[in-house]
Amino acid sequence: MTMADKYLMGAAAGELDRMLFQGEMFRPEAERLLDRCGPGPGGRAVDVGCGPLGILDMLSDRVGPGGEVVGLDVQPEMLDFARVLVAERKLDNVRLVEGDAAATTEEKGRFDFVHTRLVLMNVPHSGAVLAAMVALARPGGTVAVQDVDWVTRVCDPPHPAWTDLVDLVAELWRRSGMDVHLGRRLPRLLREAGLTDIGVDAGIRVFQHDHPYQTLLVDRAELCRDALVDGGLTSHAALDRLTGELREHLARPGTVVVHPVLFQAWGRVPGGPGTDPAPGS
Ligand SMILES: C[S@@+](CC[C@H](N)C(=O)[O-])C[C@H]1O[C@@H](n2cnc3c(N)ncnc32)[C@H](O)[C@@H]1O
Repeated sequence: MTMADKYLMGAAAGELDRMLFQGEMFRPEAERLLDRCGPGPGGRAVDVGCGPLGILDMLSDRVGPGGEVVGLDVQPEMLDFARVLVAERKLDNVRLVEGDAAATTEEKGRFDFVHTRLVLMNVPHSGAVLAAMVALARPGGTVAVQDVDWVTRVCDPPHPAWTDLVDLVAELWRRSGMDVHLGRRLPRLLREAGLTDIGVDAGIRVFQHDHPYQTLLVDRAELCRDALVDGGLTSHAALDRLTGELREHLARPGTVVVHPVLFQAWGRVPGGPGTDPAPGS
């Protein structure tokens, strides 16, 4: 499997649980996005890089029994997990498909709503994935993307180990062809991909010592330990020191962590019934 096919964080059991936890945390944002531009009853929707659930349950609920939802993911382990949840929750209108979104064989121009969350920032071929998403949507259909931007990634009181670790992981992402500041560029990317009626919003979360995401940065850095060390960005000993110091700092009741801001951007594929200007107008 190449880097382009594989999600850098893998699909270990802990990572699947984390994604489900994160999905619940961002449920209000997703519902707000769907209220704005999501599919209606009978609609067809895709969740690209759905992971163990993504927003499949919300889409299933919105399109109802007469609609169709496709969950697409490149990692079979994610889909195995998703299959269990889809069955447990009786999401009968959901179909799961394995494959790289950039090379999907799903029929083009067929979907009312094509969505992805927290995928584009984690793939080096984000432009190809976005182009494939636009191709899946029908004329008049909507493409919606949710992804983070690390501009807000700070802790207070400040700590040098925090800054060093943010820089290390961001550099690993950069060298892997990915961008931790993708969020702010989403509206522009949608416009450049040919979409119109672009909308944008963002949501932010702040944590304290008792929240599981207080230590997300350290947890992620440890998950990427081999890539960081093998890439010559740090040594095991230096990483141990940074993560140790930072864990102590984050465990203090007074320490506050600001999460990367979650951008949401959406746009419409030109054309579609009743949307084109009348000839000669
Ligand atoms: C951070 S998880 C997000 C999961 C889900 N969208 C959510 O918000 O809960 C990223 C997911 O994207 C999937 N992924 C990565 N590259 C992909 C690609 N090229 N095509 C399809 N899925 C991909 C990964 O397997 C993983 O399940």
